[in-house]
Amino acid sequence: MTAPERDPRSQALKLDGVPVATLARRFGTPLYVYSHSTLVANYDRIRQAFAEIDPLIAFSTKSNTNGTILRILLERGAGLDIVSGGELERALRAGADPARIIYAGVGKTREEIAAALNVRILAFNVESPAEAEAINEVASGFGRKAPVAVRVNPDVAADTHHYISTGRKETKFGIPYHDVRRLCRRLARMPHLRLIGVHAHIGSQITQTEPFVKALERVVQLTHQLRRDGLTIDLVNLGGGFGIGYEESTQPIDLEELARRMMPMLRELRAQVIFEPGRSIVGPAGFLLTRVLYIKEAQTKCFAIVDGAMNDLLRPSLYSAYHRILLDGRPGRGRRRVYDVVGPICETGDFLGKDRPFPPLKPDDLLLVCDAGAYGMTMASNYNSRPRPAEVLVRQDKAYLIRHRETIDQIIGCEEIPPFLNGSGAEQRSARSPRKVRA
Ligand code: LLP
Repeated sequence: MTAPERDPRSQALKLDGVPVATLARRFGTPLYVYSHSTLVANYDRIRQAFAEIDPLIAFSTKSNTNGTILRILLERGAGLDIVSGGELERALRAGADPARIIYAGVGKTREEIAAALNVRILAFNVESPAEAEAINEVASGFGRKAPVAVRVNPDVAADTHHYISTGRKETKFGIPYHDVRRLCRRLARMPHLRLIGVHAHIGSQITQTEPFVKALERVVQLTHQLRRDGLTIDLVNLGGGFGIGYEESTQPIDLEELARRMMPMLRELRAQVIFEPGRSIVGPAGFLLTRVLYIKEAQTKCFAIVDGAMNDLLRPSLYSAYHRILLDGRPGRGRRRVYDVVGPICETGDFLGKDRPFPPLKPDDLLLVCDAGAYGMTMASNYNSRPRPAEVLVRQDKAYLIRHRETIDQIIGCEEIPPFLNGSGAEQRSARSPRKVRA
């Protein structure tokens, strides 16, 4: 990983050659910043680790949907993993080849299925018999066969947060391992489906190789059984989930070791292998840059109140996730104090980090929240009517605005006032008419 760099003298932080202080000045805070070099290095590393079998690396769009990020990865040969009609639209607008798009998710609507069929995506990952029926029916309207892969739930435990562990039998995902053959026989009889593969995704942020190896063993076994049943399985999708090192003490998954352990089985599969990584590509490439507003000394704690909040980066609040937080530019090795880094939102759960030691902080200090590129901006909301942050890409000493900061007009502009409120005085103060606050 290449970013961030720290000037040894001034302790100033730079991302791909651009000082974060310059970014804050130019684009304001809170701000998402993506390092082009890290993004590309992470993608290339996965590709190289598995180069021998030339897998399709279908970037998991849900982790980061910014069109520039998608384009950079598409240019390098990535496919895309999508989970909604909205993500399909983004994928197409970013120029993705539909023949490299995989559509997953337990609740695809008929409209979404039709849109994906219309552009001829590579495959739908089927998650239930009812969904298979729906795809079959929609495809019959097109007079075509929809390509499908069955998502198997391999019932493999992965040591991760229970909200993002998907491979156990208790979760809503996939078809139970022992029911898959029966379902596949049923699918094979549906006239408008073409069963082409199997899919397994056991969860996210998995840093051990063992669960992936176990899941692959089960998938290999299943593939052989299905082939013995006379079915053609040309596509084996092993999902995403490669874990990254959020904490100083956690090692990211050892991709080369994983590839070494998986390769004998992958070689023997004789199928197009697909991976759907999201976090491991874009997570460490993204940062949330935030500014200290106030320091508040409470009885037992010291709070650094910053302008970034849980609506910008939800992971700490939702999963108690740890993100490293770096202070920009404070030379010397003085005294340190411990802070909770919190946002302006009216919730106790609104924090970006707890009990973090820093040199004494002061208003206007810049803090860089690391590993925020995946499930950062895509899970951002407008809670407390806070416009979502701008996004910037840094590459070779230059910064590019890749998404404007949202405006309050854009947020309020979606609302409608019912006619019965018109004329009651609300008209003049209508939600759509902005009032000038500042001259
Ligand atoms: N494929 C499927 C079918 C998935 O459900 C997911 C993630 C991925 C691929 C990509 O997994 P990755 O390589 O990014 O681990 N919001 C949570 C993560 C939710 C993951 C959902 N599915 C977080 O912030 O940790």
